[in-house]
Amino acid sequence: MHSVDATTERMIRSVLAFAENRLRLDPVPLDEGARDPAALDVVTAGLLGDDGHDPDQVLGAWASMLAPAVISADSPRFLGFIPAAPTKASLLFDMLISCASIQGISWLEAAGAIHAENQVLRLIADRAGLPESAGGCFVSGGSAGNLSALVVAREVAKRKAETGRRWRVAVGADAHSSIVNTLRILELDPLTVNTDDHRVTGAALRAAVEADGDPSSIAAVVATAGTTNAGIIDDLADVSAVARELGAWFHVDGAYGGAGLFAPSIRAKYDGIENADSFVVDPHKWLFAPFDCAALLYRDPSIARSVHKQDASYLDVIHNTPAEWNPTDYAYHLTRRARGLPLWFSLAVHGVRAYTEAIETAIRLARQAAAEIESRDFLELIREPELGVVLFRRLSWSPGQYTEWADRLLHDQVAFIPPTAWEGETVARFAFLHPQTPMDLVREILDRMA
Ligand SMILES: Cc1ncc(COP(=O)(O)O)c(C=O)c1O
Repeated sequence: MHSVDATTERMIRSVLAFAENRLRLDPVPLDEGARDPAALDVVTAGLLGDDGHDPDQVLGAWASMLAPAVISADSPRFLGFIPAAPTKASLLFDMLISCASIQGISWLEAAGAIHAENQVLRLIADRAGLPESAGGCFVSGGSAGNLSALVVAREVAKRKAETGRRWRVAVGADAHSSIVNTLRILELDPLTVNTDDHRVTGAALRAAVEADGDPSSIAAVVATAGTTNAGIIDDLADVSAVARELGAWFHVDGAYGGAGLFAPSIRAKYDGIENADSFVVDPHKWLFAPFDCAALLYRDPSIARSVHKQDASYLDVIHNTPAEWNPTDYAYHLTRRARGLPLWFSLAVHGVRAYTEAIETAIRLARQAAAEIESRDFLELIREPELGVVLFRRLSWSPGQYTEWADRLLHDQVAFIPPTAWEGETVARFAFLHPQTPMDLVREILDRMA
């Protein structure tokens, strides 16, 4: 299993050939998702047993049946949830990293990898206007980043006050579900900030705190820089000012929208992000990196380190290395893949300007799609898009009609565009991210609602 014999040689050729073909897909087709497990068993039954199988047979099972049963999130026709669009460069480097078994825990083991990752974190921190001292690590996703950051926020609050008190986190009703999960895990109660227009403002936060009457219980304020369902950026400047008045930790969840920091046309919407105590952005979303990759940054990483650093006698050696920067110290993890490296490679190959252009393309697509929607009398735009998300309704449609429309589009391999809900109503939603999504496709999708 670990030596290079004739079987290994054959596998190298056939697996790399498969990977090469996948990489060469341009554009990536959509493929289909959910299938009857019995159909998948036709090729997988009996493969896992005491005896091994010919690698080409196993690869054949993957290629013939399993791979086509996965909707390609990196297809320009994938317009649901939050799509992915990893660059070819990032995918290639991801393969290389997999082959190298890089253990990204510590400077002692992986200084080269961590140095490159930290350069990417610095680039993102600069875009956000965070101080030179800012730093952090890459984690698996926005959920892991939000959890790791709010663990620090809770500890900071606990250190400041008497024990046994309840702690809460002020958060908008449109914050991501991972924030709700995080609060449940940490046994922190939410103080929900109600808004007039789904956007948390300083005034809305202040009103919620005043109505609640227990400001000293607020350990943290969470703002969203790009809500998942609608792409709304909270008023980060005013919200951060109120958070500071409260003496609360200010966390910005930019898992989806944080990439907009690289888009000059909308950069002003993020003003105030420079006040964040912690900030998350997912490169596996709009910074065109492969799954899974989230950048987690702290204004003062030494605080995060005092919370997350794991102490064990066998780990003393990693903490005694000069010039150490141990990514493991900045989140809830120990062993970690050096998942910032594909982005590092791709950024270095293509340059930041190419990223800016690709992000601006998705913003333009959203604006053009909004105009197309407004030009059809059977459609109604729900709100002007801020980022790449467009919400709209088909007048007089029932929820079932949205589902039929979306199912038909997937069946015909036109697009993956599942409906969502807005203020309790089933509506349609584009999530633009892939820079190669053509406007003709957008028109076809809309015309199929006529
Ligand atoms: C705003 C926001 N926060 C957090 C997350 C969770 O990120 P992940 O799925 O990478 O854990 C998402 C995912 O879409 C998101 O949009």
